[in-house]
Order: sequence, then structure tokens, then C-alpha cells
Amino acid sequence: ARWQTCLRLARELLLVGPDGKDLKLDYLHTLIDTGRLGPTHHPRKKILVIGAGITGLVAGRLLKDAGHDVTILEANASRVGGRVKTFRATKHHQPFDDPAQYAEAGAMRLPDFHPLVLALVDKLGLGRRQFYNVDVDPGTGSGPDVPVPPVTYSSFTGRTWTYGDDSPDFREPDKRGNSWIRVNRVQVRRSDYAAGPERVNEGFHLTGDEVRAPVVKMVDDALEAVRDYYSDLVDGRRVNKPFEEWVEGWARVIRDFDGYSMGGFLRDHAGLSDEAIEAVGTLENMSSRLHLSFFHSFLSRSDINPGVRYWEIPGGSWRLPHALHQGLRDEVRLGHRMIRLEYHDPSRDTDPEGTGAVGSDGWGVAVQTVAENDPQAPPRLWTADLAIVTVPFSALRFVEIVPSMSYKKRRAVIETHYDQATKVLLEFSHRWWEFTEDDWREELDRISPGLYEHYRQGADADTGLTVVSTDNGPSLTFAGLLGAAVKDSAVTEEMRQLDSALPLRGPAVRPATHCFGGGSAADNPNRFMYYPSHRVEGSTGGVVLASYCWSDDAARWDSMRSAERYVYALRNLQALHGRRIEVFFTGRGATKSWARDPYAFGEAAIYTAHQMTSFHLDVSRPEGPVHFAGEHTSLKHAWIEGALESAVRAALAVHQAPPVTVPGPDRQGESS
Ligand code: FAD
Ligand code: ARG
Repeated sequence: ARWQTCLRLARELLLVGPDGKDLKLDYLHTLIDTGRLGPTHHPRKKILVIGAGITGLVAGRLLKDAGHDVTILEANASRVGGRVKTFRATKHHQPFDDPAQYAEAGAMRLPDFHPLVLALVDKLGLGRRQFYNVDVDPGTGSGPDVPVPPVTYSSFTGRTWTYGDDSPDFREPDKRGNSWIRVNRVQVRRSDYAAGPERVNEGFHLTGDEVRAPVVKMVDDALEAVRDYYSDLVDGRRVNKPFEEWVEGWARVIRDFDGYSMGGFLRDHAGLSDEAIEAVGTLENMSSRLHLSFFHSFLSRSDINPGVRYWEIPGGSWRLPHALHQGLRDEVRLGHRMIRLEYHDPSRDTDPEGTGAVGSDGWGVAVQTVAENDPQAPPRLWTADLAIVTVPFSALRFVEIVPSMSYKKRRAVIETHYDQATKVLLEFSHRWWEFTEDDWREELDRISPGLYEHYRQGADADTGLTVVSTDNGPSLTFAGLLGAAVKDSAVTEEMRQLDSALPLRGPAVRPATHCFGGGSAADNPNRFMYYPSHRVEGSTGGVVLASYCWSDDAARWDSMRSAERYVYALRNLQALHGRRIEVFFTGRGATKSWARDPYAFGEAAIYTAHQMTSFHLDVSRPEGPVHFAGEHTSLKHAWIEGALESAVRAALAVHQAPPVTVPGPDRQGESS
């Protein structure tokens, strides 16, 4: 039985359908090629979709276009999109000093090998440009006027699917690696680390051969034995084994390794030393995830790595859900939070305390909602033949469901581990990360002649409390220069106080970063910092993702108020880039803790050891007329692509399903 579970999971992971067909090709055909669900014997049904994230919007749109009567209930009263959220100026709110600036709270990068989302972005005409995970030389590459290459997908069936026209003149800019690694008080550029990892590695107390290899090689070597299960090394490249062996190979990987955490795997299976794991964890963003399943980090190593090309949506990721919402203005009902879900399943007991709306002569499902913005409003009841529930299981945990769902589904709702992710974003009036040293001199002296030298003179001070005299007489601490370059900066007294109380170790000046896109890594609490891949048209400034953390790294920030987060995030940014960046801080920031979001209740479903084999197959199984979709029901956790796969899967299933109930005059309980 366990082997069968592993085989089925492997097929689900690889999207192998009945008769060895490629489900991904089906989904691409449905969502992109035709945009249609195809013929069915059961045309018009009444369908409730719960949640207007990417999953709910896409499923809702496919079903509406197929002629069904669709209503999408969304708890959030102010927006659709769920975990796709962009901080940006709206009629009611302006997060940054410059109204043109924006930054991602959630999804920000779309990998090349996620064809559903890339083709959807193209089909909706949103435009697409590269997201640079590694900083580039902006003078290279074919530039914004050359169209981007088409979206392609190579199926295991041998077929190559393509969307869009060839673009033979497209060239990626060259990667540069000017961004920083700063760990154990040693700071080097990424390119220098790749060329000579010794200094950084010694900081982790690595010795012998381990000290001479970049850690990425260490972890890749450790994973080679796993890749051998399903692929062969041919001329230095991985080639999948023939179909049956490939699927079985993955099933054996699941059988042998789903019980491991990544930390356990690296230590007990791969035999890495503690020091090696500390180095790998710190630099490859695995420390906070060592306790999570081997599979999560194993899969994401092929998702997030320097070799992969990523894309972003110009103007912000929010434009994707926004575009999907356009065709669904009447169907999406904002501000209605599902608190109770009742359904009819002839094989299960009906609830004596039920609404009476569901049953063999009534509706298939009845959903009770409360109004998000109006606690006084009476709960509402919404009825339908079928429902697709797309809300994360972390949110579903608080919904009363009658009758009880199947045992394993209940366990999955109770147990699915949701990771936390926190971002801290800071706005600057100038893109200092792009500066050369000459730019620094020019820009600082423009603010106040001599300011450049003023920072240089403090360069040897090793505390932040250096007092400097100015021509104007009174002496100034560096902290007094927070936001100095910004007209009417929003730096508050609270921020100033916090800032001047926090020591800054190290020099006031560090070498100019001179970096376009990409990101730095540190062992300070910011952990991972990203510079914008593109400038915002007409703006001198930009928003830096000063900290993007997962799991325990994220939880630390979650304990702080926003203003504290901004000051600490700035301080940790200064540790890498020098104190002088402070003059450009506008005092504006944005921060998002997904574990504290009352619509997501966490970042994404990230399994711990054993969870995939224990209940993943039960996650998407319907309960009577209730179907399940969403990122967590896919095996591409924490990606839009997984949400899209699940949306098409569930829409197809609901489209094909017979209405569970017989339409008749007695169908009651409808208040919408
Ligand atoms: P959601 O977007 O969570 O949608 C569920 C909807 O249900 C929400 O709108 C919610 O408000 C609503 N809801 C919740 N409870 C109720 C209720 N009781 N009643 C009614 N409605 C309810 N993906 C990428 O592809 N690239 C990335 O770079 C990337 N980065 C990410 C970074 C972060 C920090 C996070 C959090 C996610 C990231 N993702 C990324 C993942 C991606 O955002 C998600 O996989 C995807 O958006 C999930 O869509 P969904 O529709 O399944 O869920
Ligand atoms: N898609 C996400 C990103 O681009 C991956 C998130 C992984 N999350 C985690 N907790 N490991 O960043």
C-alpha cells in the first residue's frame, strides 16, 4: 500500500494522468490554447467558489465562460488576489513617498519553467520582463524593445508546447555578481565568493576540501545521489530515465526520503558536518527550513537557483489578479467570509442542526458568511449545486464544516504545516545600490558640500555613535542624517530615537555596491535582501526588499511593530552597504507578515517530514459536492503555478460533474 501511495504521489508530482498522458498539456490546452473547459453532459450548474485568489479567479472564470452560474465569495472586503499583493498607491492609501513606487508583499518572480502562469500573463497582455535573481550588467542584453521569448514547455511525452512568437534577437544581460555575502563579519561580493570561497567558508570553521568549494556545490553534490534515482548524468547534464523508470524513480525518492527533514537528510544521509550544514543553510537560505521536509527544499533548489531565468509583471504582480477580476465583476462578492460550510453527501449523515437548505431534494452546498466590514449584518446563506473551496487549509481550520469531512481530509486541515514569510521593504529617494563611488561623491555633495568626505572620515569608527563637527557649529551624530536627502521625509521621531539608540558596527562607508537587480545574503536578521530588477519610469528612487525571510527567520520580525522593523532592517542593510545610505531613506516602508494575515493564516503549505505520504493524496479529493483547489492542493507549494494547476483541475472536475441535487421547486435557503 505504501508503494502504491508513493507511485500515485510521483504521478501527481509529475502530472502524469491516466494512460500516461501529460496533465500539464491538458491544463495548458484548457487555460491558454482554447480558454475553454470543453464539452460536458451536464451544462449549467450553480457553483460557489470560495476565495478570490488566483485559484478562485481562474476556476471561476473558466466555469463562467462555460455557461455555469458562478458566485465567488471572498472574505477580503477591499481586494482580490490573496497572496498576490502589491504595495502601491491607490485612491485610499499611498505606501511610499513617491506615488509611482510599488513593491511586492507576496509573489514577485515567475520561473521560466512555469508555463501556465507565464502564458497566462502573456495571454492577458500584461507584458513580462526579467526578474534578476542575480544582478546583471545593464549595458548588456537586448534591452526592453526586443520582445521576450515565447513560453515553452517540454513534455515527457516528447511534445514541445509553445505560446508566443520566436524572438531570435532576445539576449539576457550578463550576470555580474556584484551583490554581497556578509557572514561571520566577513563581506565579499558574490562573484568573488564563487571564484574563491575560502575566506567565507573558513568563517564557518570549514576545513580540508570543504573550505575550497562554494557551498552550493556541497549541497548539489549531496543531492546527486537522489537525482540518480530518476535521471542519468550524460555529458555533465541530467537526462531523465525512460518514462516508466522515471516515474518509479521518483516514487522511490518519495518512499526513501519523505520521512526526512532537509536537516536530517544532510546530516544523516549525506554525511555533511554541522559546519557544512551551517554554511549551506546560511548562504542557500536553508537554515530556517532545515526542520521542514526534505522534499520542500529539494524541489525548491531547482526552482530558486542562479541558473534559472525569472520573469516579473511590469507595474506589479497585482495586475494578474486584477486582470482576471475584470471579467468577473458581477461574480466576485467581496467582504463575505465563509464561516460555515454545509454539504449533502448521501453516504454521510445530514446534520440535524443544519440549515435545511441541503439534502437529496435541496441544494448540494450551503455556505454561511459574515460580512467582513459590518459585524452587525446578519449572516448570509449562499447555496449551489457544487462548490470549489480554494481557501488555504490554515484558513479553513476556522470554518465549521458539516457533515464532518473524511478522516484524512480532517487530518490534513489540522496538520498541514504552513510556513511563515515576512518581508520588510524600505523606500529610498535615490537608487544608491546602483551607484559607483563617483556617483556617491556627486550625490552626497549635492545634498551638502563635504558630506561625502564627512562619511569617509567616519569610516574608521567602529561604533555608530561617532560625533562629527560641521561648519555650522553644532556637532552632529550620523543618526541625525536619517532622511537628510529627502524633502519632507517621513522619518518620525520614534524612528530617529530607535535609530540613534542602535549601534552600528563597522565603517560608515563600504565600497559602492553598483548592483542592478539581484540580492545579497547575510547572517544578520535581514538574511536576504533584493534590489529592484528595474527602475520605475520617471522616478529617481526605488524600494529595496531589505529583508525576505522564511520560517524562524520570519518569526523574529513578526514580533516587532512596523516602525521597529524599518529601523532594524535599515540598520542591517547599513551593515552591508555602509551608514551613508541613511540619507536617502524616505522614512516610508511597507512590511508584511503572512503568518499574521487574517486571510492567508501563513505563507504557504510547506510540508514537514512525512506529511506528503501521510495525507497529500487526500488533500484534493472532493467531499461529495465540495471540491478543493489552491496552492496547497498542488505539489508546487508556494508558487502561482501550483495554484493554476489546481484551478484548472478543479474547474474541469466540476464542469464534468453531474449536479448532485435534482433541481426542483423546493430548493430553498437562497438569499443571494
Ligand atoms: P490565496 O491567494 O491565498 O487565495 C485564497 C483566497 O481566499 C484569498 O483571497 C483569501 O482572502 C480568501 N479567503 C480566505 N479565507 C476565506 C474565507 N473563510 N471565506 C472566503 N474567502 C476566504 N508564487 C510565485 O509564483 N512566485 C513567487 O515569487 C512567490 N512568492 C511568494 C512570496 C510570498 C511571501 C508568498 C506569501 C507567496 C508567494 N508565492 C509566489 C506563492 C503564491 O502567491 C501563491 O501560491 C498563490 O498566490 C496562492 O493562490 P491561491 O488562490 O491558492 O490562494
Ligand atoms: N515562491 C516563493 C518565492 O519565490 C518560494 C517560497 C518558499 N517558501 C518557503 N517558506 N520556503 O520566494
